[in-house]
Amino acid sequence: MARVIGGAALRWCLRVGSAPWLACRRNIFGPKSWDPISPGSIIFLQPQRTYRAALCTELKKPLVIRDVPSALLQPHEVRIRVRCCGVNFADILACQGLYQEQHSLPFTPGMEYSGDVVETGKAVTNIKEGDCVIGVTKRKALAEEYIADPKLLWKIPQGVPYEEAAALPASYGTAILALKHRAQTQPGETVLVTAAAGATGLAVVDVAANALKVKVIAAAGSDSKCNLAIQKGAVESVNYSGANLREEVKKLTSDKGVDVVIDTVGGDIFKQALHSLAFEGRIVVVGFAGGTIPSIPANILLLKNISALGLFWGRYRDEEFPIFSSTISSALSYYQDGQIQPYVGGVFKLEEVNEAFAHVTQRKSTGKVIISIN
Ligand SMILES: NC(=O)c1ccc[n+]([C@@H]2O[C@H](COP(=O)([O-])OP(=O)(O)OC[C@H]3O[C@@H](n4cnc5c(N)ncnc54)[C@H](OP(=O)(O)O)[C@@H]3O)[C@@H](O)[C@H]2O)c1
Repeated sequence: MARVIGGAALRWCLRVGSAPWLACRRNIFGPKSWDPISPGSIIFLQPQRTYRAALCTELKKPLVIRDVPSALLQPHEVRIRVRCCGVNFADILACQGLYQEQHSLPFTPGMEYSGDVVETGKAVTNIKEGDCVIGVTKRKALAEEYIADPKLLWKIPQGVPYEEAAALPASYGTAILALKHRAQTQPGETVLVTAAAGATGLAVVDVAANALKVKVIAAAGSDSKCNLAIQKGAVESVNYSGANLREEVKKLTSDKGVDVVIDTVGGDIFKQALHSLAFEGRIVVVGFAGGTIPSIPANILLLKNISALGLFWGRYRDEEFPIFSSTISSALSYYQDGQIQPYVGGVFKLEEVNEAFAHVTQRKSTGKVIISIN
């Protein structure tokens, strides 16, 4: 007969000594995950913490919220109490199986977050308990808890709103990489930004207009989105839902064209933007939110001496970490100097993650959509 010593509370899993799981309620394996207990054994039940996480259990299906067991911290790891997680188009694509990086099921999406350090491993020296941080990861941040590599954490001052902090890493990191490192934007140049009221687009407008102080033409799919980009610092705008982008940019630049295009939409908008480049202009391919990957006619590159540049911000984390890290450090210092101000256009609870995703895919969102995890 098994004797049971101890008890289990709601959202606490049962553990036997230091042995692997024997029993667990409300965990990711379902409510009836019980392994056999041999007769006569004494069982010490150690409570193990669980936390809530959004899980993609099946591609193209709504995410589910489940309690998952907290892992033990390794010496080089940091446990974060996640406060806010930014929603990225890439999270949505990953849950549809359409992102360039595939994750095996089930997985928790979430690539950027703000939160508090609640535990540090023995070997961690640069971060301490109680620090407020922002962090980046490939997945797993859409949860109450995240175990981080300290290299991918940046301290933020106490009092910075968690929503704004979580809006910085991916969108502003991408914007800074696109404008400064890839396009080498110069003073006096003009930048055209597509989906200019979106998370990445509005960050590009903000950095270009307010940190780099260059002229910005914002292109977006509605008048209200154009107005938001103008409020952020764009000097001109084009609503491409009712106008030809190429013709409008021609008019706005007295036939000269723009020096830099940052495009997150792809398809026909990309093509029109490509034709809007001035002599020696640069177009940065950031994304295909419209769903169509365009082809680039090489003769246009030749005739106008223009360049098409690809950008995958996350790849710099693996290939050129100092550049990757500098995009986040720059975003933080622009923010702390008051040069940029992230725009949070929607805040959803963890339980509302599917509504948050739909808000973005249905083109209703502006700026960054945040999941607040309190
Ligand atoms: N390469 C990288 O490293 C990198 C980094 C960040 C983001 N991205 C990519 O950049 C794109 C934008 O990402 P984000 O997170 O910043 O999203 P977002 O811009 O906040 O949202 C997407 C926007 O794209 C526009 N859009 C045009 N056609 C659309 C369609 N059929 N469905 C949905 N949206 C459409 C909409 O703006 P309008 O209504 O104004 O057209 C929409 O608001 C995504 O493709 C993402 O994967 C890439």
